[in-house]
Amino acid sequence: MRSDADVVIARQRGREIASLLGFSASDLALIATAISELARNIVLYAGSGEIEIGHVEQMERRGIEIVARDQGPGIRNIPQAMRDGFSTSGGLGLGLPGVKRLMDEFEIESRPGRGTTVTVRRWTR
Ligand SMILES: Nc1ncnc2c1ncn2[C@@H]1O[C@H](COP(=O)(O)OP(=O)(O)O)[C@@H](O)[C@H]1O
Ligand SMILES: [Mg+2]
Repeated sequence: MRSDADVVIARQRGREIASLLGFSASDLALIATAISELARNIVLYAGSGEIEIGHVEQMERRGIEIVARDQGPGIRNIPQAMRDGFSTSGGLGLGLPGVKRLMDEFEIESRPGRGTTVTVRRWTR
């Protein structure tokens, strides 16, 4: 991820993969939205990074896993970043708390000066 064009590509790839996994049309939309949010954060705050999209199988369930990873400045205060409406850039999007609501699992790991990794999963219904 380096540019807005990469954000669009990641979003499309996510949709394709989610579709292959059997997600419903409405799920595809929200998965694409979550990917956009994570990808935009990488481009905006870290400058560059990567998005990995894969499928996960656990017991009887199947799902999609998205890992958004960068080696940017990191997030000093994660609870603050996870608060609705908090933004250091005047963002009006769903943001990280919105991504958390859209997904079934959400994990964020960040070290100031080292980077940020956000891992999210959603299971097929
Ligand atoms: N990958 C990242 N690297 C560094 N800081 C980040 C990253 N993602 C989010 N942040 C920080 O967390 C805040 C909240 O992010 P987010 O909820 O997406 O809101 P927004 O992007 O609209 O500001 C951002 O304003 C930014 O300060
Ligand atoms: Mg954001």
